Amino acid sequence: MENGTNIKQILKEQYKTAKNLKTRSLLHSYNTNKIDWNNWCFSQMQIPNKAKILELGCGTGDLWYENRHFIKNDWNITLSDFSSGMLENTRKNLERVNYNFSYEEIDAQDIPYENEYFDIIIARHMLYLVPEIEKALSEIKRVLVNGGIFYVTTNSHDSMSELNTLVEKFDSNMGLHNNGMCHRFNMEGGYLLLKKYFSQVKMDVLQGNIVVDYAEPIVTYKASTIKGTSVLIGNKRQQFTEYLEDYIKKNGSISITTKSCIFKAKK
Ligand SMILES: C[S@@+](CC[C@H](N)C(=O)[O-])C[C@H]1O[C@@H](n2cnc3c(N)ncnc32)[C@H](O)[C@@H]1O
Repeated sequence: MENGTNIKQILKEQYKTAKNLKTRSLLHSYNTNKIDWNNWCFSQMQIPNKAKILELGCGTGDLWYENRHFIKNDWNITLSDFSSGMLENTRKNLERVNYNFSYEEIDAQDIPYENEYFDIIIARHMLYLVPEIEKALSEIKRVLVNGGIFYVTTNSHDSMSELNTLVEKFDSNMGLHNNGMCHRFNMEGGYLLLKKYFSQVKMDVLQGNIVVDYAEPIVTYKASTIKGTSVLIGNKRQQFTEYLEDYIKKNGSISITTKSCIFKAKK
């Protein structure tokens, strides 16, 4: 594992723009569960009138674009990310939404707001990337009002296990047979960690199944990950593509289980 400074640089590089994130979301379009992830997340949230909302690591802002018809005018929504390039993309993406969002460059470990400022804080698939997760959790708790809710999403350890097994059989030395940094805050371990900071923690799960009958979407997905960008290149990428094509020829398709959750943590 790289040291702290290196991880920070690698993450900054990975999320300098929205390119890698957008590439990875393509594979999810093959999910046979047609419940949209953004709609599902939003339907899990109970946001009071006049709420002050902060999203951390907002990525391209899809949560708000896909739920644009449900945004209430009396909400005050701040979208944040530690990557200025990502935020630029978010702003462009949300130009099409008739709502006045605020945008701010924020590292989740250091939230520049006074105590008890927000009613709702959202962090989707980003907490496992934060170097000091507990520092972020104590900041989130600090800036939430009493009774405020922190919505946080992540993957199960078992998500995409069929794909990870295939990658391991192809070449276990590549270090790509896992879900990247997800193990640092996943569905299995998240509850206990959140319980250290929040009085009540509930969880809901969305499961699906990706079915693909050609190799490219999977190769592109793995090649866009933090590790994949350095190891799944050139010949190795070509060999992996051929390995998957061979598997598909024998089995008809590749089927990958997806399992993600949302924690609802009340202060
Ligand atoms: C996997 S993406 C998820 C994006 C978005 N929340 C979504 O679910 O589509 C992780 C996001 O977290 C951001 N990020 C990573 N580390 C961060 C940190 N320490 N503080 C704030 N944002 C961070 C990245 O720039 C990226 O936009």
